[in-house]
Amino acid sequence: MRERMVVGNWKMHGSLVGNKSLLDGILTGLAGVDSVHCAVCIPFPYLFQAQFTLQGTELVWGAQNVSQHEKGAYTGEVSAAMLRDMGCSITLVGHSERRALYGEDDAAVAEKFIAAQQGGLIPILCVGETLEEREKNITAEVVERQLQAVVERAGLEGFSRCVIAYEPVWAIGTGKTATPQQAQEVHAYIRALFAEHNSKLGESIMILYGGSVKAANAAELFSMPDIDGGLIGGASLDANEFVSICKAAKRKAA
Ligand code: 13P
Repeated sequence: MRERMVVGNWKMHGSLVGNKSLLDGILTGLAGVDSVHCAVCIPFPYLFQAQFTLQGTELVWGAQNVSQHEKGAYTGEVSAAMLRDMGCSITLVGHSERRALYGEDDAAVAEKFIAAQQGGLIPILCVGETLEEREKNITAEVVERQLQAVVERAGLEGFSRCVIAYEPVWAIGTGKTATPQQAQEVHAYIRALFAEHNSKLGESIMILYGGSVKAANAAELFSMPDIDGGLIGGASLDANEFVSICKAAKRKAA
């Protein structure tokens, strides 16, 4: 049976004081919540604070982006080894905001995926279609292209050490959540793509849903068979909301 995971993506939000109370609130709320992996992806400058505050706790921390390069003359970039040094175990790769605003194409995303793994991190590979693409009925094609670009460079083997996040761009920060059925349809499609090549991988790969997930809609989304948890933006900035979402990801006893 697949494990469950909920990841908060703080995006460009936070301050030393604010983070402290948010992290303390999450830690308090999560006490006794087992069987769900909970994590926060926070801005680079605060990774030191995360390491200091979260070391020895169950809450995992990571970054929102990583350089595809190992080291060198890449002003402003942060390598996977540096993230490991700060105690990160995960990093987002190919978030739609990186793709749309910073020109990260499929090839760059694939390189980042590989660099993250080589540096000892688990990449959370984000894929998803825009509203225009959904309206053109090419969601499956877009998601397949985004995944294929990484498979070609990292090989299928790379996918045994990663998490996929399906985030329809039209649902991010808009308050418009994909319906559980819409999300399930894409998750099942992604799983089937992997299963075609390797049935074990198809069964085991963890696929999170992201896009306006909140405490009020999390349980319904997470009840779908191919949704293994969530990647949470806005609602991860509120400790109570985030903790409720983590609790909603707990698998119901059969
Ligand atoms: P929201 O939950 O704010 O829609 O953001 C989703 C997201 O982009 C998480 O990576």
